[in-house]
Amino acid sequence: MVPDFSFKPTPQLFFGVGRHKELPLVLKRFGSRLLIVVGGQSFTSGKYWGDLERNLTESGYSFNLVHIEGEPSPADIDTVTEHYSDKPIDAVIGIGGGSALDAGKAISAMLVEQEPVTTFLEGVGSRQPSGEKIPFIAVPTTSGTGSEATSNAVISSVGHHGFKKSLRHDNYIPDIALIDPELTTACPRNLTVACGMDTFTQLVEGYLSTNGSPLTDALALEGIQRVIHSLQNACDDGDNISARADISYASYLSGIVLANAGLGLIHGFASAIGGISEIPHGVVCGTLMAAANRFTLQHLRENDGDRISLAKYAKLGRLTTELDISDHQAQDIFIEYLTNLSTTLGIPCLGDYGVTENSFDEILNQTGNKYNPAALTKEDHRLILQERI
Ligand SMILES: [Fe+2]
Repeated sequence: MVPDFSFKPTPQLFFGVGRHKELPLVLKRFGSRLLIVVGGQSFTSGKYWGDLERNLTESGYSFNLVHIEGEPSPADIDTVTEHYSDKPIDAVIGIGGGSALDAGKAISAMLVEQEPVTTFLEGVGSRQPSGEKIPFIAVPTTSGTGSEATSNAVISSVGHHGFKKSLRHDNYIPDIALIDPELTTACPRNLTVACGMDTFTQLVEGYLSTNGSPLTDALALEGIQRVIHSLQNACDDGDNISARADISYASYLSGIVLANAGLGLIHGFASAIGGISEIPHGVVCGTLMAAANRFTLQHLRENDGDRISLAKYAKLGRLTTELDISDHQAQDIFIEYLTNLSTTLGIPCLGDYGVTENSFDEILNQTGNKYNPAALTKEDHRLILQERI
């Protein structure tokens, strides 16, 4: 029998190679005054920006361009919203990686709230956001965070007492996601690896989540198969448009899955570690993926209670092999697959970004299991970190 479940809205989606050229047409219903939020200089100095800028201008749009480098901080969001708060803007467009999309998403909301963004951050602020915003359109140029489909924007303040927290409301799901895998071909290998592992982690955690549904399970499995089929190829040959399309699609699915099913222990680690180090989010996910899943599987076996999660691990293993094997073997094969993937993709360790054992207590204090199918202990968490230091 199908259990009770709820599902959040998804953006209106335009997906396909070359479809970034349709942006002027897609924006027509909102009005002509745009605020475009991008990351560093890579997109505006790359080969797509010139044509896009000309197309928008010739189509009658006026726009202001804002650069936000790296993961957006509260000050980044507040500075932009203060500057544009009294200017008429019909739509905010985020073009770039997850950070640029999150920045655009937060700005589209704070232009209406007209308060410092920390007021509304989960675990930091004191108020719930109203959900009112200026229409927001997400155009990803990397495949990873799934921000083009999620209801939250991650805002970071890095350093001692740093944090990485979400601004969240169901209304913050982008009005439109325009996903063109061609835009991701400019993404360098190290970023493709990190973003791809973020997608993979989100899909696997969403699939195993204790908060999932038949619909999130189906979407997660579809995305996981695309990742298994194409992540290595997308990393090894950035111009492989078929592989890029698979990962762009998987990233979008991962956003829908995480918005509805939630995430697990690895993302619990990621928000804690991201608050104390400039380590890319996808590297934290990728580097902890094998160890965290091995501990979780071990815990499920020892406690002999959760047959559904063990069956899911077996299913994940069978997606990586055509061998006729037992459930137990399939579960082990999935962990082995994750370990090998770390090696073949060359995922760095936490220590490569300056994380040391001195930071463990601070990380562990802020790390929760979230919707992990096994309730691992603090000692388990410490052992997982130690493996990837
Ligand atoms: Fe993530």
